Amino acid sequence: MRTIEELSFRSKGSKREKDLHLWENEPQMIIETKELKKVFQSSDIQTVALGGINLSIEEGEFTSIMGPSGCGKSTLLHLLGMIDDATDGEYTFMGKKVSRLSEKEKNRMRKENIGFVFQNFNLIEDLTLWENIELPLIYQGIKKSERKRRVSEVIELLEISHRKDLLPVQLSGGQQQRVAVARAIVGRPRLLLADEPTGNLDSMHSEELMNMLNELNKEGMTIVMVTHSQHDASYSHRIVHLFDGFIINENLNRPR
Ligand SMILES: Nc1ncnc2c1ncn2[C@@H]1O[C@H](COP(=O)(O)OP(=O)(O)OP(=O)(O)O)[C@@H](O)[C@H]1O
Ligand SMILES: [Mg+2]
Repeated sequence: MRTIEELSFRSKGSKREKDLHLWENEPQMIIETKELKKVFQSSDIQTVALGGINLSIEEGEFTSIMGPSGCGKSTLLHLLGMIDDATDGEYTFMGKKVSRLSEKEKNRMRKENIGFVFQNFNLIEDLTLWENIELPLIYQGIKKSERKRRVSEVIELLEISHRKDLLPVQLSGGQQQRVAVARAIVGRPRLLLADEPTGNLDSMHSEELMNMLNELNKEGMTIVMVTHSQHDASYSHRIVHLFDGFIINENLNRPR
């Protein structure tokens, strides 16, 4: 298997490096939330999924979010990814107050800067593995030959190239999860939000994926990962513990 350093999209002088250089003159915080709240209201039940989250994440950090089922981890990730709107509080992404952005601006910010691995994968059922991964590059307006090169690289890295023409329904859960990861990283996002990205993987593939995330982070990608695995969380710089919609504890894990 090739290592991530060999991939051409990590090469020096890339657009991403230039972006990072520009970023030096901008605010360091990529994510800042103040008393961020999310309440789900159905006809008769109100669920307070997030009670007031204060979280600051610097460019280049690798953060894990842990906590019991139902404590609000996915909800928080959806808010950070601008996939859902907060009920109250403030979210500032790359120095911009998200509540002041139009839907169009949010879509653009998301497309250009964020890769998202959904807990339930969210693959498009009638597109093949290859087409699912290529889609974000089409949205970014990247030309066909470059798309081909990047998709080939990432599917080889994630060991799913032999399945490239199959539909999601024809893939195992672990393969679908790796497609979801490939789709999230292929556009070289500044921020990767990953919801239990190893939840369906065996220990060997989990380890490979965590090593890959570690290397992407070393190259400058900011990562926020939800996990139930203490071992996976040990790759991150900081572990944020959620309980009943609140941050109850934060541990610094390893030096940056
Ligand atoms: N669309 C929704 N409508 C109503 N309630 C919701 C919705 N999405 C989430 N919730 C509720 O919000 C709470 C937090 O859910 P969330 O999915 O964020 O939990 P989680 O920490 O990711 O759990 P898990 O570890 O099981 O994935 C839960 O009580 C859930 O039932
Ligand atoms: Mg969840």
